[in-house]
Amino acid sequence: MPERRVPRARRFLVCEPRHFAVQYAINPWMHPDTQVDVDLARDQWRTLIEAYRSHGHTVESVEPVAGLPDMVFAANSALVLEGRVFGSLFHAEQRRPESTAYDTWFKTAGFDVYRPESVCEGEGDLVPTGRYVLAGTGFRTTPQAHREVQEFFGVPVIGLQLVDPYFYHLDTALFVLDEDTVAYYPEAFSPGSREVLARLYPDAVLATRADALAFGLNSVSDGRHVFVAPGATALTEQLAHRGYVPVPVDLSEFHKAGGGIKCCTQEIRS
Ligand code: ARG
Repeated sequence: MPERRVPRARRFLVCEPRHFAVQYAINPWMHPDTQVDVDLARDQWRTLIEAYRSHGHTVESVEPVAGLPDMVFAANSALVLEGRVFGSLFHAEQRRPESTAYDTWFKTAGFDVYRPESVCEGEGDLVPTGRYVLAGTGFRTTPQAHREVQEFFGVPVIGLQLVDPYFYHLDTALFVLDEDTVAYYPEAFSPGSREVLARLYPDAVLATRADALAFGLNSVSDGRHVFVAPGATALTEQLAHRGYVPVPVDLSEFHKAGGGIKCCTQEIRS
């Protein structure tokens, strides 16, 4: 019998996809001539929010800004730990104004916001686990930003080198299941980083390329329920086998922009 997993209620910040579109290409998933089905995108996104709420999570929302089609990807706006907000500085010029919109939300909600000096895309590349912040680099967030994160939070930051452009953010290749475990796609990382992950998480769930391409690693876990892309079938089976409860939510319209469930979800940790 797998062990009984215990969920913990979370506080999430999201952004409605009112202005969502694919208008430029800053990762290999994006093709500027792609038509997004706006109604379907809105329905898929609402299904995710409903799934969070019905599992006991709090969801707050930042007002979307016209002309910022990627603003729906709330995870990139910051890393929030112990009520402290480390803001973002986007790699792509097109996304830079998003930082200000999110900073305004955080300030209104009563948080101070630290503005990074180096390129840093929030929880897209910064993944807090029980003891460390795992930090991706290679495509977006810089190693200089990793150092800023460590200095700001005083938490050990473990740098991980991403090598496959399809998995350009750490949260497309790895997610945290609970305090002790992660799931990841090993080939998205350099050999040395793979070894680091194997040492830190000998019991990790290892996903296939098919799972990763289905955005299965862009999942959100509350310690028991895993909100996961339905196309990640092998991963879903492994999760169930380990006693997690997969909650499939299809965000296929957002895959066209290179994003999935986790990308649409910023966690506010107090
Ligand atoms: N189109 C967006 C970009 O390339 C997608 C961001 C996805 N977010 C994430 N946390 N992986 O920046």
